[in-house]
Amino acid sequence: MKVDVVLGLQWGDEGKGKIVDVLANSYPVIGRFQGGPNAGHSLHFEGKKFVLHTVPSGVFRKNAINIIGNGVVLDPIIFREECQEIEATGVPVRERILISKKAHLILPTHRIIDAAQEASKGKGKIGSTLKGIGPTYMDKTGRNGLRIGDILADDFADRFATLKNKHKDYLKQYDFSYNAEENEQAWMEAVEYLKTFKIVDGEYEVNKFLNDNKRILAEGAQGSLLDIDFGSYPFVTSSSTTCAGACIGLGVAPGKIGKVYGIFKAYCTRVGSGPFPTELHCETGELLRQKGFEFGATTGRPRRTGWLDLPALKYAIMLNGVTELIMMKADVLDTFETIKVAIGYKVNGVETDHVPFDTYAQVEPIYKEFKGWCKDLTQVTKEIELPYEFMDYVRFIEKELGVPVKIISLGPDRKQTIVRGED
Ligand code: GDP
Ligand code: IMO
Ligand code: MG
Repeated sequence: MKVDVVLGLQWGDEGKGKIVDVLANSYPVIGRFQGGPNAGHSLHFEGKKFVLHTVPSGVFRKNAINIIGNGVVLDPIIFREECQEIEATGVPVRERILISKKAHLILPTHRIIDAAQEASKGKGKIGSTLKGIGPTYMDKTGRNGLRIGDILADDFADRFATLKNKHKDYLKQYDFSYNAEENEQAWMEAVEYLKTFKIVDGEYEVNKFLNDNKRILAEGAQGSLLDIDFGSYPFVTSSSTTCAGACIGLGVAPGKIGKVYGIFKAYCTRVGSGPFPTELHCETGELLRQKGFEFGATTGRPRRTGWLDLPALKYAIMLNGVTELIMMKADVLDTFETIKVAIGYKVNGVETDHVPFDTYAQVEPIYKEFKGWCKDLTQVTKEIELPYEFMDYVRFIEKELGVPVKIISLGPDRKQTIVRGED
């Protein structure tokens, strides 16, 4: 059996949570492979809404096992809050979640370092979610980190204190006031809560599932344009958000990857700093924000909005080996008379369809205009009912990108999903 991967092709918030929840119905195992509580994955079903941060989005599906992979960074306090909220709805979380021993722990002082670093950057700040993501991955690659498996060791408290003291030394360079002990007790209590879960050798579990002929759906967080290597550095997150990250973050060999579902919104959003060639600073941008309810699921910050960017999508498709596209939120464009799509760039005056290395380059999008469909798509349940103008938009995108759009999402609810070819 193979691991199919769902990942975002833009700057995150494409709707991964919704789609994983929909697809999880036909996968016995779901695995998160990177990121941490910087993610906010929204699920809507049966009149309820949940925002998941660390827990994979298959948790509401009966009989699905949800693995938090080694590539994830986990904050015990946030994890506990999240699980208690899910548990309150009657979901047996401990039966459905496995946590890799090799996933790294976010300490209270990682969050403080994140805040101190951002404050020191002034206007050049990344716009981090302040969840301690960057500092935790820094300790991972710097070989200082603490892992989930370590909480079971007798000397865990000492190891925690050693790392905390290292952080206090590190923080001396910043003019930043903090109380390192403020959340320590709550954090230690949440670690005790964590111990009530199945803490496993994730890579062995995942490969055993595959050998037992169980399909796995890997759930990405963030998006390809926020990838530590390929995103608009330094305005990126600190993990590998591309398909290769699924191999590293779950412990599966590249040959075991099957389908790669690339998710994109029918327009673009970005939260935090960094380049955004098609960004709209006008009323149209505001309309996209209001109609798409583009406010961060984790931080509540307004998301920046703009037109669809095909050169950026092509780049993401190339990096991930996307086999099927999933188009989200086209319903947000329902009232637009004209819709624009960037088909190329002028970078410092020269035409190209490559995403430039230089994060600060002057990028001017080259647009193609489409006539809007001006119809409510949220009630459409069959492919055949989709308006001509909308299908024109979809076919153009497929042709330009060279990958079929397999699923079209027309609203936040599970049911507002059209799988093409299934009419
Ligand atoms: P994720 O981080 O990729 O899981 O995405 P988020 O949950 O952060 O953001 C996507 C937002 O769009 C959420 O509020 C979803 O409920 C909502 N959403 C998902 N799909 C659709 C859709 O097709 N149409 C509309 N209007 N909203 C959607
Ligand atoms: P999901 O999984 C959108 C952005 C932050 C910031 C940058 C670095 O919900 O799509 P970090 O806290 O990771 O150090 O922040 O990355 N960012 C996201 N933007 N969706 C996310 O996750 C994001 N996770 C991080 O806004 O610009
Ligand atoms: Mg999100």
